[in-house]
Amino acid sequence: MIFVTGGAGFIGSNFVLDWLCRGDDPVINLDKLTYAGNLENLSSLQGNARHTFIRGDIGDANLVASLLNEHKPRAVINFAAESHVDRSIHGPEDFIQTNIIGVYHLLESVRAYWSGLSNEAKRSFRFLHVSTDEVYGSLEKGEPAFSESRRYEPNSPYSASKAAGDHLVRAYHHTYGVPVLTTNCSNNYGPYQFPEKLIPLVIHNALTGKPLPIYGDGQQIRDWLYVIDHCNAIHRVLEAGKPGETYNIGGWNERTNLEVVHIICNILDELQPRTDGQAYKAQITFVTDRPCHDRRYAIDATKLERELGWKPSETFETGIRKTVRWYLENENWVRNVTSGNYRKWVEKQYA
Ligand code: NAD
Ligand code: TYD
Repeated sequence: MIFVTGGAGFIGSNFVLDWLCRGDDPVINLDKLTYAGNLENLSSLQGNARHTFIRGDIGDANLVASLLNEHKPRAVINFAAESHVDRSIHGPEDFIQTNIIGVYHLLESVRAYWSGLSNEAKRSFRFLHVSTDEVYGSLEKGEPAFSESRRYEPNSPYSASKAAGDHLVRAYHHTYGVPVLTTNCSNNYGPYQFPEKLIPLVIHNALTGKPLPIYGDGQQIRDWLYVIDHCNAIHRVLEAGKPGETYNIGGWNERTNLEVVHIICNILDELQPRTDGQAYKAQITFVTDRPCHDRRYAIDATKLERELGWKPSETFETGIRKTVRWYLENENWVRNVTSGNYRKWVEKQYA
């Protein structure tokens, strides 16, 4: 039995679906179902006795304690978070609440549960905290990629809240001995990503004839990883990672934002050309830059490869093609998540 939090979001739902395809361990899935959590992501698990979904907050200590004591998981994997930089700029409070205070309450619940386990169960238990490369701040062109020993220098309320959460996780290992693992991953893309993030937003806007908004000059660099590669890395770290250690996960796939948008446009031109014969690139629109926009992220994933033998399977070319196809084949999913509150967000952000 494993206990997953945030398993109705983008990466969490991919992880749960992938986990249940691969092995026998049942999953308890606790998710608050914020705007980013979507039970439709898990609809293929209806009737699957190995998946139990509970709606709730990681900060609800009574609920989490009773779930841990009832189900006795061998691991807790924390995906639950507020995850969107632009939203953190408009309103940091939810980020502080979930990514810092929520993580603190979750750690307290886990510590109490772990302390009561038998010696053997205590030794094999793991708390895996899923974090981001954004905690390291921004790189200049030509600077070496982020390694695990890089100083934390978060620049947005999102990355600062994740950094604080990471520090608490570290402290619970050093102070109380809780067997924690932390992973810091680069930008993910793939199925079920909410279309507020660059890649699904561009696919959705392209297909609905809207502008493709590029912040600033579009020369910011991100290091893209296909979401299933991220899930594989988490599996590996859970299996073989050393408690107290952190592991960087990345795709060795640095691209400028403009390059990413051009690649998506080219694939759409091929798979679903515009009816007026024009290229999707014609929809590209440069808009005001994000405040505190980090220029470049790049992950050095050598430690994970050297110590645990993990490498990504997808290149950006193969992963992005799969992703575009998924969005073309799942128009209903996109239609459902882009109704209601989504529209209000788009009006506010791109006004
Ligand atoms: P997401 O926003 O798609 O999903 C987050 C999920 O957490 C949602 O289902 C939401 O309902 C749930 N949630 C939010 N607050 C909660 C709370 N208080 N209690 C319980 N559930 C709550 O995010 P994602 O992109 O899937 O990211 C998952 C994790 O991976 C986050 O910790 C994020 O920081 C990290 N990460 C994301 C990326 C990326 O590119 N998306 C890259 C590296 C790391
Ligand atoms: P995003 O997907 O929001 O991830 P993050 O900010 O966590 O890296 O954005 C990826 C990059 O794309 C980032 O440099 C901001 C940029 N971006 C745009 O240029 N236009 C957009 O509309 C969005 C959402 C992002």
